[in-house]
Amino acid sequence: MSLTTRRLENVGVEVLDFDINEPLTDAIKADLNSLWNEHAILLFRGQDIDPHKQIEFSRTFGPLEKHPLAVNRSGEFPELFVLENGGPNDKFQTAFYDGNEIVGRLDWHMDLHYTGRPNRGALLRAVHVAEDDGETGFGDLAIAYDALDQGTKDKIASIEVAYQFNMQRRNMRFVDVKNYEPGPHSPKKPSDMGFPDFADSIYPAVVTHPISGRKVLEIVEQFLDRVIEPERAGLSNEESDALLQSLVEHIRKPEFHYFHKWRQGDMVLWDNWRAMHCTKGTRPGVKRLINRTTIEGDTTLGRQLPAR
Ligand SMILES: [Fe+2]
Repeated sequence: MSLTTRRLENVGVEVLDFDINEPLTDAIKADLNSLWNEHAILLFRGQDIDPHKQIEFSRTFGPLEKHPLAVNRSGEFPELFVLENGGPNDKFQTAFYDGNEIVGRLDWHMDLHYTGRPNRGALLRAVHVAEDDGETGFGDLAIAYDALDQGTKDKIASIEVAYQFNMQRRNMRFVDVKNYEPGPHSPKKPSDMGFPDFADSIYPAVVTHPISGRKVLEIVEQFLDRVIEPERAGLSNEESDALLQSLVEHIRKPEFHYFHKWRQGDMVLWDNWRAMHCTKGTRPGVKRLINRTTIEGDTTLGRQLPAR
């Protein structure tokens, strides 16, 4: 097996000529890891795969970890995190956007960002796909950083930003809440979803990727709250909010995004130290099942403030 790639729209690549059922030699493992470090987002199509294979394949990229949201873990395979639409959890994930009822929509985020120690990456495998529904978006924040003008790069070089874990989308300062209404069962506090109450996490606005050394714009809209001590960078509170707003508008530019339309047999692997992701959600009743494996983060990229 020798791997070739094809560019996806804007960011990431599709890996061609790959078959998960052929032996994974050390040479192929090394190739896969270097493609991952180079492109951050890898798509594999047409894979005939089961949970054992998914877990084994994911270990190519590092040790696996279990998600803190224990309720979504698979009983048989603790390394699998089950993302399901069209099942009993729908009511907790249902909200209204422009008057439409949508299940499981999530804003741009990085997984476990609220802990200060995001996981290294994750792999999603389509088990049951919803046709024309349930797209997952991926965004490359190293390319987004490179595209900033020099003045902005200088301005953000030494600032830190705080993320405030919150279950209520309406309380997140930088997501677009226009025409948004929570659903009757939307969680109100972390314990409603089995989460602990995470303290704020702090990151430099620009994080150097521990492996590739590339600069990553550490700005995602979910949980983004404020600049820490903006006066140190010569900014008032209002100016620092305006700066964050302009950075959020920057990361929302389609040129940094790839939106994946799921087909049976698809796998997407992303570098959670560099790429953000989001989900568009599904219409009520639409069935969709994705299995996720999570690659452990062995480096703390941010830090957590003491508990509130
Ligand atoms: Fe996520």
